Amino acid sequence: MENFDLDREIARLILFQRIELLTPHQRKIRKLFGRYFFTNFFSKFFINPQEIGKKYFLEMVNEYNLLAKYINFENKKILSIGSGMCGLELIISSKSSGNSFSIIEKNYISKKIKYGWDQNNIEAYNNIAKLNIFLSNNGMMKSRYNIYDFDSDNLPSDKFDCIISLYSLDYHYDFKLYEDYLQRSFHQNSILIFDTIRPDYFLKLFDDVKIIASTQKKIHSSKRILCRGYKY
Ligand SMILES: C[S@@+](CC[C@H](N)C(=O)[O-])C[C@H]1O[C@@H](n2cnc3c(N)ncnc32)[C@H](O)[C@@H]1O
Repeated sequence: MENFDLDREIARLILFQRIELLTPHQRKIRKLFGRYFFTNFFSKFFINPQEIGKKYFLEMVNEYNLLAKYINFENKKILSIGSGMCGLELIISSKSSGNSFSIIEKNYISKKIKYGWDQNNIEAYNNIAKLNIFLSNNGMMKSRYNIYDFDSDNLPSDKFDCIISLYSLDYHYDFKLYEDYLQRSFHQNSILIFDTIRPDYFLKLFDDVKIIASTQKKIHSSKRILCRGYKY
């Protein structure tokens, strides 16, 4: 796989999910005309889907390369929380075999995306129908994944080998929202990876917390942590 196949609407969603893919010019427009105008008008007509697809692909390869230093993805049961358009999951599935993906997302786009900390978890920027199309057009077999709408579906009750939440859980909304669920989803060797501004807080929840990357001011400066051993 060398690039993603995507349409304009999917490119628009990716731009909301990965705001760092904005060009400096688009950034200026967003600042000048405001978030509502950018979300509901500019992003619909004045973006270059091919360019976004290319940048997103490279970004997801980078994410994969980092995670692959710590995780062998062969034959793993993977849970993705707030996966966005699942570029990372596509790269994982193209580079390893025998894995399955359970994906939890929201199915709407906020009218005025704010980013930052969202105490009530009302911000969302995805469309599950589009996510299905993107996965299928990029070669993910339907038998390898299931998508769950956080607001209306029962979440999967399996135990997972690997749980990934990039720039979603505890980056935009409180870990507490998933705390009990994650405890039930862990087995002895499960791994959880997510981005947070308070890595030390998680020392009381997990036996092992390792910082694997630092991000300076994307939305806010954060650490990516890998956690093992949920303390019960
Ligand atoms: C900043 S984006 C990151 C997307 C992706 N992980 C990435 O790195 O490209 C955050 C994602 O979390 C989703 N989200 C928000 N609240 C959620 C929740 N409670 N459960 C699952 N996903 C959620 C949003 O819809 C959005 O797609």
